[in-house]
Amino acid sequence: MGISSSGTMAASCVTTILLLGIRAVVALQHEEEFFFGDFPPDFMWGIATGSYQIEGAWNEDGKGPSIWDTFSHEGKNYNNDTGDVACDSYHKWEEDVANLKRLGVKHYRFSISWPRVLPDGTTAQVNQKGIEYYNNLINAVRGAGIKPMVVLYHWDLPQALQDAGGWLNESIVDRFNDYARFCFKTFGDRVPFWVTFIEPWSIIWLGYGNGIFAPGIQSPAEDPYIAGHNMILSHVQAFHTYKNEFYGKFKGKVGITADLQWKFPKTQAPRDQEAAERAAQFKLGWFLNPIYGSGDYPDVMKERVANKSKAQGYTKSRLPPFTADQIRMNKGSGDFVGINHYSSQLISDHPLPLFPPSYESDQDLLISLDPKWKGLVPGDWLKSVPVGIRKLLNWVKSQYNNPLVYITENGVDDPTGELDDQFRVGYIRNYTNEVLKAIRLDSCNVKGYTVWTLMDDFEWSSGYRIKFGLHYVNFSDPSRPRTPKASSKFYASLIRNNGYDSTTTTVVG
Ligand code: BGC
Repeated sequence: MGISSSGTMAASCVTTILLLGIRAVVALQHEEEFFFGDFPPDFMWGIATGSYQIEGAWNEDGKGPSIWDTFSHEGKNYNNDTGDVACDSYHKWEEDVANLKRLGVKHYRFSISWPRVLPDGTTAQVNQKGIEYYNNLINAVRGAGIKPMVVLYHWDLPQALQDAGGWLNESIVDRFNDYARFCFKTFGDRVPFWVTFIEPWSIIWLGYGNGIFAPGIQSPAEDPYIAGHNMILSHVQAFHTYKNEFYGKFKGKVGITADLQWKFPKTQAPRDQEAAERAAQFKLGWFLNPIYGSGDYPDVMKERVANKSKAQGYTKSRLPPFTADQIRMNKGSGDFVGINHYSSQLISDHPLPLFPPSYESDQDLLISLDPKWKGLVPGDWLKSVPVGIRKLLNWVKSQYNNPLVYITENGVDDPTGELDDQFRVGYIRNYTNEVLKAIRLDSCNVKGYTVWTLMDDFEWSSGYRIKFGLHYVNFSDPSRPRTPKASSKFYASLIRNNGYDSTTTTVVG
């Protein structure tokens, strides 16, 4: 990224025009330059965590097992790591809140562990100790002047529900609705933001498609579409439950968070541009189009999966259809779009064999990375490509009529947890600067930004091998001490300044 100064708040500029699925790319204003200016005064700066990744206490005080307890105990993660203790936030939440306060964040995004409050996933049995834990946390967060943004599902499904088929069994829609209603009723008087699901794609493709995440099912042709369908319907039902039963009292907002690595066409050839657009629809549009768009799946998904299914000998499309009633209920069932974004990819059009059938081969494309993109973990998918977040925000704006957006995760990993984490400082600076451009230059309706994550934690199948935290956690010490990294000081000053002032900002590449 080059260095220059500009305080101008130029008029909105349209960056991407969608024509027949092909992107006519218009250069973004100030694409190559650092942009100086302020975020809107009410901009929500936050930081995020996930229950299984930090809480530990996996079998304490009446908590039921989750699919991630099972998966981890089966030795499926790097180094056989588990979340049994993790950051021990079940016992150390007061310290976490003190760290949030020091950062000066406006919101804290954390998740409720479903089996900690409802051990077998149903409301038949309620765990008072679990409720007490989240009551204490919510009250302390609010006491620190921070708004809770509460996630209902960050991947730790009660094992008892998995035993009944998990997201493949359509009765999960009612189970999720019961759980959501229970949380709205119990905590809703103090929660202004609810997120139903974090990254449906990761849950579904990694959990039911290639199986590298819990529950570890490898069924790439049909199950991801079925599980995805049930997850969308679960979100929609919970959204309406909130609106019908709780909104009048609590006036909170309910959304869903989906993720996308920005898809750059590998070349400017129309077929690569079309492939990049297809990739975005198959990943982000899959979940956002039903909720924030037409109420149904993106056309390109419906057409491709139907055609491929037919050619593969299926009697119907592997992508289940929504009924007309469902489409009506889906449409508009979100108060805000949650976006998780970390990195970018290059996409080329690439016809794949019909067999074996798979969600991946339905897309006919190849994914690669630009060797010039930099990251700290060798061989990792996560490279710093700041302009990607601005392109993504513009895409969301043009696809869904400029909806209200909260960025619910953005961050970068390293292999050591070094305290002087200057790469992370640069990453956050440059990514937030692109968010600032999206707001000020492109008029994207982005009202908040959330860093992943408060402290080094259990990083799913990578265990403790990679570190994303703004605080270092010593996992060999039973008391799991937290130490602030340079990035926590940088983030605190960014929040205080609410933007980038040309006289005080040091810009590095
Ligand atoms: C997830 C987090 C995860 C992060 C980094 C996101 O997909 O929501 O739980 O730790 O990425 O991999």
